[in-house]
Amino acid sequence: MLSKKIFDYTKEGRTVTCYRITNKTGASVEVLDYGGIIRSVLVPDREGKMTDVVIGFDRLSPYIKNRDAYYGAFVGRFANRIAGARFSIDGVDYEVEKNNGENHLHGGNGSFSERIGKVTDESDNSVTLTWESPDMDQGYPGALTVSVRYEFDDKNNLTLKYTGTADKRTLFSPTNHSYFNMNGPSRGFIGDNEIKIHANKFVPVDGDCIPTGSFATVKGALDMRRWTLLSDVFKKEDSDVNLQAGSGIDHSFAIKGYTGDGDIVRAAELYGANTGIRMSVCTNLPGIQVYSGNFIKDGLKGKLGQIYGRRSAICFETQYHPDSPNRSAFQSPVIEPGEKAVYTTVYSFDTPPKAVVLDGYTTNSGDISWEPLYKVCRAVIYDRTTPKDILKRVKGADAIITNKAVLTADIIKELDEKCRYVGLLSTGANAVDIEALREKGIALTNVPGYSTEDVAQLTFAFILELCQKVALHDDAVKRGEWTGSDDFSFTVSPITELAGTTLGIIGYGAIGSRVCEIARAFHMKVLVHSRSEKILPEGARFVTKNELLKKSDIITLHLPLSEETQHLIDADAISMMKDGAILINTARGPLLDEQAVADALNSGKLGGAGVDVLDKEPPSAGDPLLSAKNCLITPHIAWAAQAARIRLIEAVAKNLTAFFAGRKLNRLD
Ligand code: BGC
Repeated sequence: MLSKKIFDYTKEGRTVTCYRITNKTGASVEVLDYGGIIRSVLVPDREGKMTDVVIGFDRLSPYIKNRDAYYGAFVGRFANRIAGARFSIDGVDYEVEKNNGENHLHGGNGSFSERIGKVTDESDNSVTLTWESPDMDQGYPGALTVSVRYEFDDKNNLTLKYTGTADKRTLFSPTNHSYFNMNGPSRGFIGDNEIKIHANKFVPVDGDCIPTGSFATVKGALDMRRWTLLSDVFKKEDSDVNLQAGSGIDHSFAIKGYTGDGDIVRAAELYGANTGIRMSVCTNLPGIQVYSGNFIKDGLKGKLGQIYGRRSAICFETQYHPDSPNRSAFQSPVIEPGEKAVYTTVYSFDTPPKAVVLDGYTTNSGDISWEPLYKVCRAVIYDRTTPKDILKRVKGADAIITNKAVLTADIIKELDEKCRYVGLLSTGANAVDIEALREKGIALTNVPGYSTEDVAQLTFAFILELCQKVALHDDAVKRGEWTGSDDFSFTVSPITELAGTTLGIIGYGAIGSRVCEIARAFHMKVLVHSRSEKILPEGARFVTKNELLKKSDIITLHLPLSEETQHLIDADAISMMKDGAILINTARGPLLDEQAVADALNSGKLGGAGVDVLDKEPPSAGDPLLSAKNCLITPHIAWAAQAARIRLIEAVAKNLTAFFAGRKLNRLD
């Protein structure tokens, strides 16, 4: 619902109107036509209590008096600084106002932040303000029409859409200068908010906040790629050169996901533990100026009698990078005549659960995105966690996500009551003590099926290598054996034709049955053994384990590890197998008695093996399979194709969403 009321009057007697968009949940956003100021953002905390998360005032005068702080304002034409207050476009030099020492800041005094915009569109959940800026307004070339559409939807997404069209080439890089505090600005200090900035690079600046060069890798206090308590950032002030240059955080970050194609990507997040409110800032602009309110005046009287001060709140100003008009290393803020430039920034508010990922590195070393998880929770991601650090790290978390970091019964007993959920970043569940979880009533989920294709593919990579011996022949050719040969063809080791050989598949879940399909495509005969009898395709036969061991030329394992299946392939099992049989294990290491398998390979009883998993991972140097004959070993990579890992993260996020929505999905408890 959109409502409006008179907010105040300018000294010239013009009416300033306040537009309020209230959504179905009762959350609301107030926008003034004066300066496009966002006066309030009231969103529910974890108990549903509405909390105002921005700084603002009850009257117009404090906005005017503190105009150089740009409270809540729409800022432009060019947000942040232009060094020396000059730039040139197409060889023509332009001078703009020096309103920040020798430099130009936020479009100059008296720009959009101090002008009344005209309402050009209204709807139930939006209001659009438009400003006409004549040619050479504030020294900028070209007549510019600029509008900002403020939309607040029922899911508490506040979307700001900036549209600009000019009749000459000109600069266009506006922003909004709201000061946020997720614990409510009345608390006075932003230090108790946690921040996360999705950026690997930032723009280093001098003491006047002017870029000193190009981008640099985030480090020290400015490395906020993981959730960081702001007071911990400020603590580094005495030693961190970047914080000193900016008098705190006052830096532009290069948004990691920026594509330049208009995609709206996550730039930063802010979280208040007292309210449970998280704000996510997403944009299609390349940069975000994060400014930790270093110059908010102490004792400033705000809305409803609140008193603000230095660092009461923090700004997230999405924009082109500071001084980009003069720096070719940065994306250009120049728009073409007649072009309709559209920039979008979304501030989303929710109260997500906190999830700690204990060992995220193997799933995502940085080549893919955790975004699906960030959408549903406040994910704190660790690359790896040693057993002694687990309890410390999961303290206060609603959910734990693990791949191979082991949750023993002892650890589970010590988990705090808040933790209701464990999500596996895997199909197999042997990293957790399911009984101990059940006893505490903690839910457990896994991700079945995400790597079915990949495990089947690796199974056949092993089978093909062991039967066709591509790498072995390639080695021989590269060693010069072909060039020095008398014949057009030669082999270094016998080649086995797959068609007609018998493949024994132990375990017939999704992976086992996919392996069976591929085997049939190769015209192999297939024998299957699993816990319960299954309907099999033509050419495959269900048999006892012993018959499978006796009759198969190649045996592949696709079953979970449990007490019963540990050492499934031991010396006894091997003795039943055909001489020269091949063994494949892409399931779990302890399914094999490694010493027995190594002995059989070394004696020639087994013709070859392909294993992607070992007893201990990473293995010790003395692992008997490492030195066994004809044994191909890969470092647990069957699941590691990028497509599979992307599916995995999506599935983990879906499991978590289902759990917190009270639905059961992939539950093992
Ligand atoms: C700038 C700060 C400035 C503040 C208020 C921010 O965008 O980076 O240096 O003090 O705006 O004007």
